[in-house]
Amino acid sequence: MKIVTIIGARPQIIKAAALSRAIKNKFSNSITEIIVHTGQHYDENMSQVFFDELGIPEPNYNLNVGSGSHGKQTATMIAGIEDILLQEIPSAIVLYGDTNSTLAGAIAASKIHVPVVHIEAGLRSFNKAMPEEINRIMCDHVSTLLFSPTKTGFQNLQNEGFKAKNEKPFNANNPKIYHSGDVMFDNSLYFSEVADEKTTIISKNNLHKNNFILATIHRNNNTDEPARLNALFNALYKISEANKLDVLLPLHPRTAKLLEFNLEAELHQKMKASKHFKIIPPVSFLEMIALEKNCKIVMTDSGGVQKEAFYFEKPCVILRTETEWVELVECGAAMIADADERKIMEAYKTLTSKTNMKFPKIYGDGKAAEFICEEMLENLS
Ligand code: UD1
Ligand code: UDP
Repeated sequence: MKIVTIIGARPQIIKAAALSRAIKNKFSNSITEIIVHTGQHYDENMSQVFFDELGIPEPNYNLNVGSGSHGKQTATMIAGIEDILLQEIPSAIVLYGDTNSTLAGAIAASKIHVPVVHIEAGLRSFNKAMPEEINRIMCDHVSTLLFSPTKTGFQNLQNEGFKAKNEKPFNANNPKIYHSGDVMFDNSLYFSEVADEKTTIISKNNLHKNNFILATIHRNNNTDEPARLNALFNALYKISEANKLDVLLPLHPRTAKLLEFNLEAELHQKMKASKHFKIIPPVSFLEMIALEKNCKIVMTDSGGVQKEAFYFEKPCVILRTETEWVELVECGAAMIADADERKIMEAYKTLTSKTNMKFPKIYGDGKAAEFICEEMLENLS
């Protein structure tokens, strides 16, 4: 069978590595993968670095859409993806997560009756102010095969009318839902073995094992609303100073640009002068894993980074009002602190003083990508 895989944003490029690896190792005789990069992310350290490092085949097509408003960016992608699908005539399109690249693939494919395979289906924040919530709901509801990484996601789909049990043939009117495990758990296991030996990020930044905070911030409401951005950076700065603890913050370009406009000048100056507060450009995935494995605690508004903290058995303060990965909070390994200075400081205290934290194996067996390939072959070819 021929599949067209759409990638565009950093986390999708990384997620796609798991399926490409499974195809190369086990399904090279039965699955041909055509990779389309929409160009949503384009800086070297937001895109190319992952191809170089993770063994993902270079894209067959790059739409080079770049940045723009949601409407313009998504529309340009839809037109480009439609042309490619009409030319390639694949058995399915494979979409990851909840970005504008995901939505564009879902619209382009479903309108011309190319079956949609959605990996990371069923996740919900129940907050439609988030662009990602719109993207994931719309993608799920035109999909034919939906692979949920979690039980909660599988249940969310049933709550929206998807049937847990139904018979072939599957199509957009009779979709099949699965609880498949998480392809990012596959990737984290696979790359964790080499992350320490292949990177120097810890020594390069003079960090000490289990003695620094790893932080990332890029969610649009956190970067675009000055009050939230200032509360987040104030909390990080205060925790760092009070505990004489390094904070390492590989900064998404969106946040880097908005710091200049939205952060209070005095706080910005203090951060720059601090020997503990280290802002660096985005890092590679292997570097990120090394940081996650060696930090004391993670503080993030990223979906992927929340989960990777859990994979590497680190506590996590979630810098959002809610999370789609509710199991992390239910297990007690993560706390939601919003962009609230007081809650963030309390969550830091609570999580760093906890003993006997539990990290149960709830994201599959590390073979989600192989399972997805088998099901695609069984049901779509
Ligand atoms: C997108 C996804 C988000 C995901 C994130 C992962 C949507 C709606 N959002 O958010 O779900 O968590 O990717 O990182 O799809 N920029 C650069 N260089 C780049 C890419 C972006 O400078 O290579 C800057 C541009 O100023 C751009 C801004 O970042 O306008 C936002 O980029 P965009 O892709 O629109 O959204 P993200 O915030 O990255
Ligand atoms: N990541 C990375 N380098 C960085 C920051 C994040 O490789 O500097 C990885 C991270 O390990 C995870 C993914 O990017 O696998 C998460 O992407 P991001 O936080 O941009 O998006 P989200 O998961 O919130 O959609």
